[in-house]
Amino acid sequence: METREQWRSRLGFILAASGSAVGLGNLWGFAYRASQGGGAAFLLLYILIVLVVCLPVLVAEMVLGRSTGTSALLAPIKAAGNKWAPLGWLFIIAPLGIGSYYAVLMGWTLDTFLHSLFLGLPANMSEAETFFGSISSGSSVLLGQIVSLLLTAVVVSAGIRGGIERLSRWGVPILFALLVILALWAATLTGTWEGYRTFLLKIDTSQFFNPSTIRNAFTQAFFSLSLGIGIMVTYSSYLDRRKQLPKEALSVASLDTSVGLLAGMVTFPIVMSFGLKDVISGSTVGTLFISLPTGLGTLGATGRVVAVLFFALAYIAAITSSISLLEVPVSSLMDKLGWSRSKAVFASTAFLFIIGIPSAMNLNILGKMDSVFGGVLLILGGFVLSIFLGWIVPRRFDDDLSGCESDKRVRRYLKFMLRWVSPPAIAFGLIVSVIDLFKSWSA
Ligand code: PHE
Repeated sequence: METREQWRSRLGFILAASGSAVGLGNLWGFAYRASQGGGAAFLLLYILIVLVVCLPVLVAEMVLGRSTGTSALLAPIKAAGNKWAPLGWLFIIAPLGIGSYYAVLMGWTLDTFLHSLFLGLPANMSEAETFFGSISSGSSVLLGQIVSLLLTAVVVSAGIRGGIERLSRWGVPILFALLVILALWAATLTGTWEGYRTFLLKIDTSQFFNPSTIRNAFTQAFFSLSLGIGIMVTYSSYLDRRKQLPKEALSVASLDTSVGLLAGMVTFPIVMSFGLKDVISGSTVGTLFISLPTGLGTLGATGRVVAVLFFALAYIAAITSSISLLEVPVSSLMDKLGWSRSKAVFASTAFLFIIGIPSAMNLNILGKMDSVFGGVLLILGGFVLSIFLGWIVPRRFDDDLSGCESDKRVRRYLKFMLRWVSPPAIAFGLIVSVIDLFKSWSA
């Protein structure tokens, strides 16, 4: 039997997993969810969910991948028999659903980047809206989607070490550095403090009980961590036994959350400084692509440089995430059907393109795909995972972690949280989210 490929180093794995986590969710999703009125209540809930509820599930997902050493489709079966096959299917369906519209968002990002670089920024709101209309419809949206899918496919077909690890090794540090530079720059704007205050610091306690804020916080936590849908199972299946999973999980979660916060420290000062609060309060999926270029457009050359850097970094962040979405079906096809990597990449990419067409053509569909596949399904996956590793195969959790983890207390703490805290908390988040989602659809 061929031996399974492995990450070259511990850092390589952390960067790849963080690369998956850090993506448009941190830049685009965070901005648009944080601006939907939750303010600091949203932010606090989100951070609390990551630390208390998601971290143990992240470790559990990594344990499932490493201990079974197989792809997401087969890992639940290998761990607990055929009865658990549906969990494997959830792990395939969710990344495919997200991957389909993620490529569309990447296309918009690419278009905005190229437009800022070669043609400049819009002079006012209406120009920005026209521009957004043009990139989000017609043939340019398909082109952006295809180019993004092809770039993703090229990286994934180069394999774990040669493609995914290599890209993440330079991509993640660069995007982090760029973001820090931009956040420092944004701190010098006139509306900076107002921006932080309005979106990140103002606590309105009634928001803690607002179902939409709760749904936004749960969705942001799971989506941003790429958690609950087999991505971390897949990446961890290429890990060896020596790595200390709780530490890796903590690194990934910290990096991901810092990037979300840093991104907010870039976008909100811009929004405030240029009086775009109204644009963002009617927040839609297009918010970032309209408000940011408009604000920066008033700053002349500096604004253009900032826009180019921001959308370049967003694209890098997006591609290190989209490769993880593609790797899930690819590795599953390879393991299940014995296909070669290139054949699996080709088939999965073509499939993603086709199922992404409705999202490319219609913003409404894109929004719905995002709330189902990029929202409730991840939360559902997280719930099932916590039950699975906390209650169905708890020995696997202990055995896998005892191989490497010197600190027993950490393991005990994680197991306790996984069994007693994560399941009810996620179940609550799931119920609130589903109800809120149906309400928003029928409104
Ligand atoms: N975490 C990525 C982001 O923040 C998106 C993603 C979600 C990737 C789920 C894989 C799985 O953009």
